Amino acid sequence: MPLAGRNVIVTGAASGIGLATAQRFAREGANVAIWDLNEEGAQRSAAELQASGVKAIGSRVDVSNRKSVDAAVEQFHAKIGQVSVLVNNAGITLFQPFMETTEEQWDRVMLINLKSMLVCTQAVLPDMLAAKWGRIINVSSSSAQTGSARMTAYAASKGGVIGFTKSLAQELAATGITVNNVPPGFVDTPMLRNEGVAGLGVSVDAVAARSPMGRPGRPENMAAAIVFLATDDADYITGHTLNVNGGRYS
Ligand code: NAI
Repeated sequence: MPLAGRNVIVTGAASGIGLATAQRFAREGANVAIWDLNEEGAQRSAAELQASGVKAIGSRVDVSNRKSVDAAVEQFHAKIGQVSVLVNNAGITLFQPFMETTEEQWDRVMLINLKSMLVCTQAVLPDMLAAKWGRIINVSSSSAQTGSARMTAYAASKGGVIGFTKSLAQELAATGITVNNVPPGFVDTPMLRNEGVAGLGVSVDAVAARSPMGRPGRPENMAAAIVFLATDDADYITGHTLNVNGGRYS
């Protein structure tokens, strides 16, 4: 149980990659908080973990709102303890031709995908600094690496996540806290099946055909990489971008 006794927050964990990550952390012995705008989903997923004997809580949290995040950290302290791992996973996508992208859409994507990094990380960093141990793992996107037409706001926000990761990793390098990011390619989640397929105008099978492995990633593939970055085995890895994309680099 390499993560026994670690206290983990996974944002956007009522669904998809976040849910698989919370479940994997629980299997590795960690205590887990599931944060999501979807309160019912967060509580249901936490209840399932509790039923298997894990210490888990599920809460409605808006990761872009400092008041909401601070209240959730207070609840975490009361019910679980000091935070040792933060997975900044919550995000939204946007498919929109560049010239039709409104300021409101741009701001919303930046708020949820990028400002959330500031708000959530600042809220938990004091715990990690006090413990001289911590893990911050951010979910970015391959769209920031390869570019993606009609996804300028989204790709820009995720490029920001990669720059944020590398910079904070250097600032914290001597503190026992590592900061890394995982950029998924195509992953079979509700986001891909709903917005992704509609936005790309192709079927999930057509998305799969673009992958050298002939299939999209599974949420569990992302979860395994994220959990590895939280272990002691990964303690000399920081500022890193761990590609989990089935070999799709363009
Ligand atoms: P998903 O849509 O299945 O799950 C995202 C979760 O985030 C949802 O439960 C949603 O309620 C929650 N959420 C959204 N805004 C929130 C907010 N303000 N506060 C709290 N929770 C919020 O999506 P999926 O696919 O699991 O995505 C997870 C992450 O992976 C996202 O950051 C996404 O951008 C990234 N990603 C996903 C890819 C894919 O192909 N599925 C590809 C590249 C990146």
